Amino acid sequence: MKHFTSVKDVADLDALLKTAFQVKQSPYGDKNLATNKSMCLIFLNPSLRTRLSTQKAAMNLGLDTVVFDMNQGGWNLEFQDGSIMNGDKPEHVKEAAAVIGQYYGIIGIRAFAHLKNPVEDYAELVIRQFQKYAGVPVISLESPVRHPLQSLTDLITIEEHKTIEKPKIVLSWAPHPKALPQAVANSFLEWMVASGQDITLTHPEGYELDEQFTEGVKVVYDQRKAFEEADFIYAKNWSSYKQYGAILEKSDQWTITADKMKLTNQAKFMHCLPVRRNVIVADEVIDSSNSIVIQQAANRVVAAQAVIKMILQS
Ligand code: CP
Repeated sequence: MKHFTSVKDVADLDALLKTAFQVKQSPYGDKNLATNKSMCLIFLNPSLRTRLSTQKAAMNLGLDTVVFDMNQGGWNLEFQDGSIMNGDKPEHVKEAAAVIGQYYGIIGIRAFAHLKNPVEDYAELVIRQFQKYAGVPVISLESPVRHPLQSLTDLITIEEHKTIEKPKIVLSWAPHPKALPQAVANSFLEWMVASGQDITLTHPEGYELDEQFTEGVKVVYDQRKAFEEADFIYAKNWSSYKQYGAILEKSDQWTITADKMKLTNQAKFMHCLPVRRNVIVADEVIDSSNSIVIQQAANRVVAAQAVIKMILQS
């Protein structure tokens, strides 16, 4: 595996999952794999889990890691090729990425959607320019469109907790006071389809995702109907893709409640975190024994370690 920016970069998903379960079984089994190697994690946006779990994964492999908060102390980069740089951006990604690639053998980068222009956001310009110019493997720590380390984590967690061969997995939209990107939802669907899962999507009218992510996905607009006999409920908010970045539904009608969870097959509750309690999900659901959000977050280390290991070995 050269880069890790979507499930499409994974030539053999079964092999990646197998590596993940080996890593989980023996987290320190490869502690000398990356001796004298190093990685730079670049953040243009906040993070708790991605920042810490990726560093912990690197530590387990003996990989030295530096975290660079680009917006705090870094130059404001120009990402467009051919631009006339007479504005407020003193450095082009062409030099910046190439220079960072001289210092570090792997680069991770997080750059969220701006939610103003879908064409610009969905071009994933920041990560694609780093791929183009860094000359070293690039790992997505979440782009405007995808969050593949989260999605691999989610797949590992489902595989661990499923009690039947092909569980019913439901991705449910839930309310949030701020406009959020579609990245986690897009990516979750992409990975569920790629791994052949029984996946249902439920959301209010107007929250349809980009069609490239919903091919092979059952869409049920009635949330209660979608929840029937579900084995996993994955809650997530996203802003509208069609009316790009808009919040169309503000009521608590889509909050995940204990009453709705009763419709399921004692489903496990999942969320990528951070989560707004009693907005996205009721306390009694996230605090129940069926909630696996902490186990899910713990698997962020496993996913990151499996990905870094496969990149180092390729
Ligand atoms: N789920 C996730 O990516 O969390 P952070 O934004 O805290 O990294």
